[in-house]
Amino acid sequence: MRDRLEQLKGEAWKRIAEADETGELDRIRVRYLGKKGELTELLRSLGSLPQEQRPEIGRLVNELRSQLEGRLHSRLDTLQTEELQRDLARETIDISLPGRRPAVGRKHPLNQVLAEIEAVFMGMGFEVVEGPEVELDYYNFEALNVPPDHPARDMQDTFFITDDILLRSQTSPVQVRIMEKRQPPVRIIAPGKVYRVDLFDATHSPMFHQVEGLLVDEVTTFGDLKGILQVFVSALFGKGRGVRFRPSFFPFTEPSAEIDIECIMCSGRGCRVCSNTGWLEILGAGMVDPRVLSKVGYDPEVVQGFAFGMGVERIAMLKYGIDDIRLFFENDMRFLAQF
Ligand code: PHE
Repeated sequence: MRDRLEQLKGEAWKRIAEADETGELDRIRVRYLGKKGELTELLRSLGSLPQEQRPEIGRLVNELRSQLEGRLHSRLDTLQTEELQRDLARETIDISLPGRRPAVGRKHPLNQVLAEIEAVFMGMGFEVVEGPEVELDYYNFEALNVPPDHPARDMQDTFFITDDILLRSQTSPVQVRIMEKRQPPVRIIAPGKVYRVDLFDATHSPMFHQVEGLLVDEVTTFGDLKGILQVFVSALFGKGRGVRFRPSFFPFTEPSAEIDIECIMCSGRGCRVCSNTGWLEILGAGMVDPRVLSKVGYDPEVVQGFAFGMGVERIAMLKYGIDDIRLFFENDMRFLAQF
């Protein structure tokens, strides 16, 4: 019996030492310690031994049993650690490999300039509002004092969808829509896309962006308009930049003016960019024509207003010295990444 135990022990130790996966250990456990395991059978056969041998052999069997359990356990530990190490090694990420830098987007220069313009006017209490790009003839022209067949329509030839639906040629219709809905005081700017029938060349694009402003209140003067536009020019082009108002015509303002700033390139001395005049036009403006106010139900005897409008592309071109409007729309990163 003793020999049998020694032999069993030898085999078991060898099996355990050779097991190279945890499943194998399970099978070994069953083989020796399971219900029909070899060691269990031995224990059961103790009864057939002579009385005086039983305690001694029983002790040996139990000893072997607990040694076996101990070995299985520590071998299991070792195998699990090894498996973990193998998994870790297999799943290791090589952090020394240089990463691929994700291409980070940036704001389009036009949106940057637009944000700057909006910030200046918001700082003076103007609210930013938007309106439809596909617009009724009424809002784009008629409500702005441009009746059908009036020659002033030639200034802003646009794309018609039907006889009375068009792509807006200015953002002024947004102002009419707001005035119809609200009572004075009104203090808004309306940024957005506008459309005109123009060739796509260095200075024209059939789609461009405008920001128009409107202020209507009980006492509103041309002096207020000049002050506000002066603040705007200083904010965008620097303090001390000369500004001049030139008489002009718009159907919806009276009197009307065009606003020039001292040439960015030559500071007023005269150069190619300003056609030797020393000045660059950046804005249209004027006091809102009383007929426009009447049309939205305001009483021009009680309230007055002023309005102004500018092209965002033009402002951006002057600010950054860009000489071709098409650059904004060609999506060339070599250009866009400079801002
Ligand atoms: N809407 C005019 C244009 O697009 C600009 C403008 C706006 C002029 C407001 C005067 C007052 O040309």
